Amino acid sequence: MKSELLDQAVITFSSRSSNEGFARAAAACFAARLDPTLDELADVKTAVSEAVTNAIVHAYPDRLGKVTMRLRLYAGSVMEVQIRDTGVGIPDVEQAKTPLYTTGSEERSGMGFTIMESFMDMLKVRSAVGKGTTVTMRKRFSRRHGATG
Ligand SMILES: Nc1ncnc2c1ncn2[C@@H]1O[C@H](COP(=O)(O)OP(=O)(O)O)[C@@H](O)[C@H]1O
Ligand SMILES: [Mg+2]
Repeated sequence: MKSELLDQAVITFSSRSSNEGFARAAAACFAARLDPTLDELADVKTAVSEAVTNAIVHAYPDRLGKVTMRLRLYAGSVMEVQIRDTGVGIPDVEQAKTPLYTTGSEERSGMGFTIMESFMDMLKVRSAVGKGTTVTMRKRFSRRHGATG
């Protein structure tokens, strides 16, 4: 059974690299309501950064497209982040999640999904070639203050 949804926010932005920092800061700002530790906040920022960078770099390799970030806060100090694009999609998600696997140039580490998986408590990737990709991540914060406002 899923806990009670306390609050949510949805932001859609274009796949410009400058929006990576914007998305990371927005997610951190929203997460702060659950009073996470600095380490937990850093984990969320890193995971969001990896997912949004993937949408910017891989989903729309030769054009600008839309990226939608959905943030949800649940009772019990749980945050869910969903990053959705309508780009090229991933032919084999299991392969894409393999550490060091990359279709990018040499500056890509191939560690994005591995980082998301290790910094968050849950990672789910749904993708369809030619339709796009949705990455859903969840993290439970150790402090249990619940959302305010
Ligand atoms: N949103 C996306 N759209 C299309 N392909 C993606 C997306 N996210 C990831 N991929 C694919 O999965 C691979 C692995 O991603 P990742 O682990 O972040 O490593 P890297 O970004 O360094 O290549 C990418 O190289 C790319 O082929
Ligand atoms: Mg990546």
